[in-house]
Amino acid sequence: MVNDIENRIIELRNELHDLNHKYYVLNQSEISDLEFDNKLKELEGLELKHPEYSDENSPTRRVGGSITKGFAAVKHSEPMLSLSNTYSHEELNDFFDRVEKGLGKSVEYFCELKYDGVAIALHYENGVLTRALTRGNGVEGEDVTHNARTIRTIPLKLNETLSLEARGEVLLPFEAFEQLNEQRELAGEQLYANPRNTASGSLKLQDSKVVAERNLDCIVYSLYGTEHGTKSQSEAIHLLHNQGFKTPSERNKWQKLCSREAVFEFIIFWDKERFNLPFATDGIVIKANNFNDQQELGFTAKSPKWAIAYKFQAEVQSTMLNNVVYQVGRTGAVTPVAELSPVEIAGTIVKRASLHNADQIEKLDLYLGDYVFVEKGGEIIPKITSVDSKKPRGAEKVIFIDHCPECGSKLEKQEGEVAHYCVNEKECPPQVKGRIVHFVSKKAMEFEHWGAETVSELVNKNIIKDFTDIYTLTREELYTMDRIADKSVDNLMAAIEQSKQRSLPRLIFALGIRYVGEKTAKVLAKKLGSLDAIANLSAKELSEIDEIGDKIAESIFSYFCLPENRRKIKLLTDYGLTTSEESNVDESKFHPFVEGKKIVVSGVFELINRKDLEMKIEELGGIKASGITSKTDLVVIGKNMGPAKKEKAEKLGIEMLTEKEFLTKIELD
Ligand code: IVH
Repeated sequence: MVNDIENRIIELRNELHDLNHKYYVLNQSEISDLEFDNKLKELEGLELKHPEYSDENSPTRRVGGSITKGFAAVKHSEPMLSLSNTYSHEELNDFFDRVEKGLGKSVEYFCELKYDGVAIALHYENGVLTRALTRGNGVEGEDVTHNARTIRTIPLKLNETLSLEARGEVLLPFEAFEQLNEQRELAGEQLYANPRNTASGSLKLQDSKVVAERNLDCIVYSLYGTEHGTKSQSEAIHLLHNQGFKTPSERNKWQKLCSREAVFEFIIFWDKERFNLPFATDGIVIKANNFNDQQELGFTAKSPKWAIAYKFQAEVQSTMLNNVVYQVGRTGAVTPVAELSPVEIAGTIVKRASLHNADQIEKLDLYLGDYVFVEKGGEIIPKITSVDSKKPRGAEKVIFIDHCPECGSKLEKQEGEVAHYCVNEKECPPQVKGRIVHFVSKKAMEFEHWGAETVSELVNKNIIKDFTDIYTLTREELYTMDRIADKSVDNLMAAIEQSKQRSLPRLIFALGIRYVGEKTAKVLAKKLGSLDAIANLSAKELSEIDEIGDKIAESIFSYFCLPENRRKIKLLTDYGLTTSEESNVDESKFHPFVEGKKIVVSGVFELINRKDLEMKIEELGGIKASGITSKTDLVVIGKNMGPAKKEKAEKLGIEMLTEKEFLTKIELD
């Protein structure tokens, strides 16, 4: 007998499964987050009171909570094979020849993206998820079911009571990867190398709660099990989509193509377009679409004969290491740079690559003449990741320098740091120039018409030694520059004058204090209001400010301990720069409910425009924050706030108010 409680539980589960699918797979939000939340809470309450109706696939299980000690090895229903792959059009033509000859006819091909994640096999019985296995050794996989349940794009229940196996790829989208690394950086933990390895590592974490926080994604590409009546890959994708899986459903992400030319066009399109995807792809998979054709073609021991992966040009290449030179940055950090035999990587010629630091050189055990692998990830500077083949004996070993290549001072390495520094701050030319170039740069004091060359020439001619000297420059001094026109002198002088109006956060950032980025500069300006106030705090007092960790606090404190730096601040104040912005903060307007609180505003608002709401919070003494963390005090929730955010806030026990409630609190309604 199904009673009322069980009925309600079932009803809520179905509703929440459906809403979850709409939100995460289809990007549609049908009800407000608050309503979603209330339903989830109601279900949680009922499940807690009535454990007899517990269900491993309840939507309440998405947040994780189970610990897996060792992942059991489970045999795959059919081996998880790999794909043969190629980088060349020629070999792809050979594949077409083989397939078409084998079948004796022209063939319809199914083309889709090759997702660069980690393979997963998802088993469903009578419509519910029963097991999730990694690839393992191809024959046996590891049972990661608990962790898979936390991935919101993996349906816990299908739309029909089907039994099937879907295979796909678990991915960590770039955004989630970057967020994770940001958190790790703040916590002083080692950064993850790339989304693929992180996705793979995440799937095998013991604590599924942590997995739930990783924001993994899953896209499926194969259907196993025979009794579904699908006759082709395209029909299988449709079926999987209709059952609630995330599939490459947008028309341009998969296509049925009948000519080789069309397949090549698809490849060329995605070779460029892939950089606009939110996750990593490393090629295109081309499959014979028809299952009968697939069966007829069969398999080799390792891979199907009916499919091939066309891999995009590798972002890693091997080339010869010719020399290592050393660059000194504005902070004095010395970076070893490899000079390479030119090599094309992902469309550009690479001649130099970063070697990061002495430890990296040591780890790679480099000799001049070695062949090294160079990797170019997106916009990042190419780096050497490993050695391909060693130079024969007798070659010169690369040994990190012990003196500054620019000024000859002895290099120092601080405990706990990986970089070597030239500590001759005052005289070492790249440091002197670097600090001034940073000061005038766009994100700092934004000196129009001033660039690295102007600074370099003025320093070389001994006209300026640090950024304070800029403010006493005369026209005559500027006229000593090579080939300088009247107009340029006018522009340079005008830029100096304009810079005096730049805001306090810009000036703080412009000082170039180690670890003080734009964000920290803003926090300091808002909290303390003036350079003097910052200069007069102890490291301990600084570290008590939200978002200022010990390392940053120590660095700021050391900066202002130096009489030389205090002198600079005094000069900047005398020259009329904005060294204080206290006048902007009217403490009499502060509201006790808001003052000092870190507040996140999320969603769409109806009673007040979001920008105005944020301004109001700041005016009342609150601190506007973007991400929800354990330090958040309050979340003001608008319409369509993501359930994930809400879940997080709830888990952390953070107070949440609707806009109406919030406006009432601050007496604005
Ligand atoms: S089909 C028989 N389709 O690539 C194997 N695989 O090297 C059929 N992969 O283990 C696999 N995107 O993890 C297929 N659209 C896609 C794929 C894809 C990524 C992975 C998969 C597989 C590996 C093969």
